[in-house]
Amino acid sequence: MRSIRWGVLGVANIGVRTVIPAIQRAPNARLIAIASRTPARAEDAARRLGIPRAHGSYEALLADPEVEAVYIPLPNSLHREWTIRCAEAGKHVLCEKPLALTAREAEEMAAACRQHGVALMEAFMYRFHPRTERVGRLAADGALGDVRMVRAAFTFAVREPDLNIRFRRDLGGGALYDVGCYTINVSRMVLGEPELAFAAGRVGDHGVDEQVERSCALPVGAWRSSTAVSSCRGAKSTRWLAPRRACRCLTRSCRARPTRRSTSRGAPSQGPRRSPAPISPSAWSSASGRPWQPAPRRHCRP
Ligand SMILES: NC(=O)c1ccc[n+]([C@@H]2O[C@H](COP(=O)([O-])OP(=O)(O)OC[C@H]3O[C@@H](n4cnc5c(N)ncnc54)[C@H](OP(=O)(O)O)[C@@H]3O)[C@@H](O)[C@H]2O)c1
Repeated sequence: MRSIRWGVLGVANIGVRTVIPAIQRAPNARLIAIASRTPARAEDAARRLGIPRAHGSYEALLADPEVEAVYIPLPNSLHREWTIRCAEAGKHVLCEKPLALTAREAEEMAAACRQHGVALMEAFMYRFHPRTERVGRLAADGALGDVRMVRAAFTFAVREPDLNIRFRRDLGGGALYDVGCYTINVSRMVLGEPELAFAAGRVGDHGVDEQVERSCALPVGAWRSSTAVSSCRGAKSTRWLAPRRACRCLTRSCRARPTRRSTSRGAPSQGPRRSPAPISPSAWSSASGRPWQPAPRRHCRP
């Protein structure tokens, strides 16, 4: 099996903790280079992680003729620029999520990669987990029944917001970009493309959305909808609204089944589940800061 020779831009947390070890374990990959804006940081990371070459700038890694594919775990605001620069250098790209800050940016990135004949992929790893693949297949095959609603939540606490790129508006921070993209992604996987999308968020002291509730409606025949909560609040102020990760689908067939809720005597209730109410646009309002308007159907997929 031929191995792809990888390089990494930046000594990012997600790279060091998760993706670099995974690339190094993959039978069809060889991680040959890492770059940092700070040469000493690149050298230190290369030594610690057993990577043969350290580059003192991102440009130097792109000029490395041995590197065939580049993993980009940079702040969200830099995804577009470095994906396009990789494409221009003839390198394939695996870019961290969210791929881009706007649909237009994503289209430009996809166009550049197409033009230079390189592959572009967003690093939504969870989509390749066997459990996710199975849920997707079950939904597509109709085994889950007529899915009417997806509820998803992804929340977590950030210990040092002042030091975290997620709290930097200029770097594309905020809960919606950071973890809301997962809840949107899973909703689209199960329900398809929304016709309408609404969101309400709370913008914190750092100027980014720390909590967002979002709803998508798919008025295809019957109303189908998805709701999601995403949150990356500072740890001190946090009382979580939802479990860290949760995704739930309500299907028409669920209505006929007994619920798991207990009755006052402790026996499972035999009452039917109520079907989800259709979402009305008036139920959603935009919060202060960045207003999210009902948006037309837009894609972020390359
Ligand atoms: N797929 C997943 O499961 C997952 C999980 C976590 C994060 N992510 C994504 O991965 C990306 C990185 O997240 P992270 O938490 O790993 O970030 P991080 O630890 O803060 O690392 C970001 C890296 O970007 C480089 N960088 C370049 N310009 C920068 C600037 N102006 N300010 C700060 N850093 C800058 C730095 O590397 P050098 O200084 O070495 O150049 C820095 O180490 C984000 O897009 C995030 O959404 C994905």
